Amino acid sequence: MPCFKESIKKVSESSGTNLVLALDIQGRDPQTLLWRCIQILDEVAPYICAVKINKPLVLSLSLKGGVSKILDYAHNLGLMTIMDEKLNDVSHINLEIAEHYFEAGFDALIANPFVGWDGGLNSIFSLAKRTCKGVLLLVYMSHGGAAEGYGQTVIDPETGETKPQYIIFAEEALAWGADGAIVGATQPDKVRAVRNILQGWVPIYSPGVIAQGGDPSIAVSAGADYIIVGRAICESVSPRDSAFSLRERIAKISRSD
Ligand code: XMP
Repeated sequence: MPCFKESIKKVSESSGTNLVLALDIQGRDPQTLLWRCIQILDEVAPYICAVKINKPLVLSLSLKGGVSKILDYAHNLGLMTIMDEKLNDVSHINLEIAEHYFEAGFDALIANPFVGWDGGLNSIFSLAKRTCKGVLLLVYMSHGGAAEGYGQTVIDPETGETKPQYIIFAEEALAWGADGAIVGATQPDKVRAVRNILQGWVPIYSPGVIAQGGDPSIAVSAGADYIIVGRAICESVSPRDSAFSLRERIAKISRSD
């Protein structure tokens, strides 16, 4: 059975799109929220390969009540599902959180490598391997403040060498067998540097396009495999037209490697 990394690649190739929809719909009324999520999914499904869900939606709809209905709906449309948890706790708590998400139907979740391997993310990597799920690691976030953490220069404890933090995270994504590395499209030079390390073994997911100023075409030519997009689709007057034109725009781009 193909696991997350292979499955999303297959969906992306067969549907001709590498867009991941960030289903960031706001509101407090669960019925209206759920209806709007389903409506947007119906409109844009032909132009995306996966849907990413954020914590506000889980808080509004609850995981096993509303969100699992969205996951079922997305799976029936042939889409993969990703939980944007940015998981960042100690090992046994991470494990329990990941079990909740995977049992609810998520195919993958996003974790933060700042917490480290030993007693940190080791538990969820072994859970994901056992259950054929995916773990995507933050390598360089899309917002300006990312420079303060992901962009800082640090001493590699293994070698004593000085390196940018995000380069160490990219190396860890490779060494830990991550299913994806997340690098902001707002930082195409970082996307290129990470691509040089990952060499396609770990796919790159780039958020931060349009609303945050990143150019999806530049991100793809720098090495991004998947483009994550939220407001430019969800807040558009026509999510369908926006998703269609974004897909067309990216499909024309070839990578430099
Ligand atoms: P917009 O509306 O800016 O939404 O297209 C972007 C989506 O992506 C998430 N986001 C990130 N997720 N690493 C992540 O894992 C990042 O660096 C990052 N930057 C943005 C954001 O939560 C929203 O869903």
